[in-house]
Amino acid sequence: MINIRRATLEDMDTLVKLRLDFLRHMATLREDDEATLSAQFADYLSRHLNRNALAVLAETDCQVASIALLTVAEQPAHRYLPSGKSGTLLNVYTYPEYRRRGLSIQVVRRTIEEARNMGVSAIDLLATPEGKPLYEQLGFGDTPLPAMRLRIF
Ligand SMILES: CC(C)(COP(=O)(O)OP(=O)(O)OC[C@H]1O[C@@H](n2cnc3c(N)ncnc32)[C@H](O)[C@@H]1OP(=O)(O)O)[C@@H](O)C(=O)NCCC(=O)NCCS
Repeated sequence: MINIRRATLEDMDTLVKLRLDFLRHMATLREDDEATLSAQFADYLSRHLNRNALAVLAETDCQVASIALLTVAEQPAHRYLPSGKSGTLLNVYTYPEYRRRGLSIQVVRRTIEEARNMGVSAIDLLATPEGKPLYEQLGFGDTPLPAMRLRIF
């Protein structure tokens, strides 16, 4: 049986594990960063989860199989962001043994629904090649202006 649900602070250890497993998969986790990133993420969750961030989990037979995170930020509203609230979707991850069963699509759909209920006008993300077809299926498209970044440190 598949259970799709919003995470709470009681899921803290599971969320931290899923975050590290995702970063490991993305090859963006150095072994000596694990403790620091775990502590930062636990602290982040304790301050933001179910305030301006949310996590949706998929469980199959009580095993956590899939996750998506959403952070919500508020900025001055404009024509394409009428509420001024935008979401960033990140850490979309399904453990390899549970892939291609429609878990991520359900998790991301639920995340979009929760974002809508929070008054979010638009959701942004950076897609991996594996993730792109999933997001396209859900209606995500290219943005009219290119994303840019300045790394400060
Ligand atoms: C991308 C990822 C989250 C998909 O998870 P999943 O639970 O297998 O996805 P779903 O089963 O819900 O797939 C839904 C649809 O997305 C598309 N899709 C999913 N994985 C795909 C892949 N590897 N290649 C092409 N299309 C894919 C398909 O359209 C699929 O529908 P279908 O199986 O009926 O063809 C998973 O492969 C993963 O964790 N990858 C590593 C982390 C990652 O890249 N995350 C995305 C960050 S942006």
